[in-house]
Amino acid sequence: MDQEKVIVIDFGGQYNQLVARRVRECNVYCEIYSYRTDIETIKAMQPKGIILTGGPNSCYEADSPTYTRELFELGIPVLGLCYGAQLMMHVLGGKVEKAPVREYGKTEVVVDQASPLFTDVSEKTICWMSHFDYISKTAPDFKIVAHTADCPVAAAENKEKNLYAIQFHPEVLHTQEGTKMLYNFVRSVCGCAGTWRMDHFVENSILEIRKKVGDGKVLLALSGGVDSSVAAGLLSKAIGKQLTCVFVDHGLLRKDEGDEVEQVFGANGQFDLNFIRVNAQERYYKKLAGVEEPERKRKIIGEEFIRVFEEEAKKIGAVDFLAQGTIYPDVVESGLGGESAVIKSHHNVGGLPDYVDFKEIIEPLRDLFKDEVRKAGLELGIPEALVFRQPFPGPGLGIRIIGEVTAEKVKIVQEADAIYREEIAKAGLDRAIGQYFAALTNMRSVGVMGDERTYDYAVALRAVNTVDFMTAEAAEIPFEVLQKVMSRIINEVKGVNRVFYDLTSKPPGTIEFE
Ligand code: XMP
Repeated sequence: MDQEKVIVIDFGGQYNQLVARRVRECNVYCEIYSYRTDIETIKAMQPKGIILTGGPNSCYEADSPTYTRELFELGIPVLGLCYGAQLMMHVLGGKVEKAPVREYGKTEVVVDQASPLFTDVSEKTICWMSHFDYISKTAPDFKIVAHTADCPVAAAENKEKNLYAIQFHPEVLHTQEGTKMLYNFVRSVCGCAGTWRMDHFVENSILEIRKKVGDGKVLLALSGGVDSSVAAGLLSKAIGKQLTCVFVDHGLLRKDEGDEVEQVFGANGQFDLNFIRVNAQERYYKKLAGVEEPERKRKIIGEEFIRVFEEEAKKIGAVDFLAQGTIYPDVVESGLGGESAVIKSHHNVGGLPDYVDFKEIIEPLRDLFKDEVRKAGLELGIPEALVFRQPFPGPGLGIRIIGEVTAEKVKIVQEADAIYREEIAKAGLDRAIGQYFAALTNMRSVGVMGDERTYDYAVALRAVNTVDFMTAEAAEIPFEVLQKVMSRIINEVKGVNRVFYDLTSKPPGTIEFE
């Protein structure tokens, strides 16, 4: 794709993906590369602009990440953020030192001079600061354009060379006018036209997929999650029946979810493709009988998925491509993009099947962030209920049933979860809460219903707000909503006589129960 592009060079900052996402919100395509990427590679990409991220180091120390001075002499606009700003000054002959006062949090920045970066930005603007080093002297030919009470150089520029350094983090939402600043950089300073739009992406991807696949056959494991569904939609639009999707119903899906997936992608749905639904419920329940240990359960569910998928693939025979719903954060977090440590390898259910006969992998969503995947899904006409589906773990309800999984328990948690979701939606909270679901504890206790003694299970309700799923807080759901859910679950779901609300944050808890 001949796409105008801005490059983020990552120095290990925690906000690297955020920088790229904000740039893309300005309709400019953006990719993240490690500072270890050599200058020739960067040049070959012909970026319209370069952004240097923050990072945890001190740029004046010997082993700290750095970059060759040539980067600033290419004639390509460069914006340094936090560590990136300090490094720019350091490399170009300014001075960076430990600051007498560490700045952290929301800070008032005073813009002293007109600057292309601050067009339409208020004279005094709240920005997010997080640094212990500071620029004590700017590099030659730089002009200071903003300061704070404790930081003499909050922003500096060399307008002739299009070099900009800012000490704070415009990518963080706490920087109230941060998006405007990034917009000013990519659209005005770099001169990007803003051609990155999801309708274009969809059109271009369809053409690219056709070119790449030719008259080949493609196989996709469809989970019903957002990523694989959007991948299926895109591939179907591009190559129709050359695509076969295998959807394994492992009996651990939410209530009616299997049928919903089939409605959209099956023979009576709107997409042209071969859809195979494998009803493997009984097979899974048999494998899981008597197994209580969470990791073992996960392993069985993952392995069984691969076995079922392989069996189907064998029936289909050799294919040219295996499609995967990998998205950009998977690429970055696998250490292939930015500088972040390998946080997790691709978490597509259980890894790659060993014995599927394919020549190549095709990953049509590899360049997209999650919110972009959703936009692409809407462009493709995939129903909102599917596009805005919550993250659902590969092992499904298997890790939301504590202890042994049985068909009876699956039914209980499906019903309870459906009621919970319905009431949350009725209260208008469904898009406000990060992730919420019901789980089945392994606890049974005594209750009374009518005149009868009961000895039944307890359901736990979970709802968390989270930015990145690495940390989370329990959501504050109005008490009357929780009460309504409790009373409906106890009245409508056989086998439950108690409902708990889980207040645990992450850490120390995890979002899922197992
Ligand atoms: P935890 O429980 O680790 O969950 O706090 C964090 C997020 O990851 C999801 N999750 C998974 N997703 N396969 C997945 O695809 C898994 O095995 C898995 N385990 C947890 C979880 O739903 C939450 O969004």
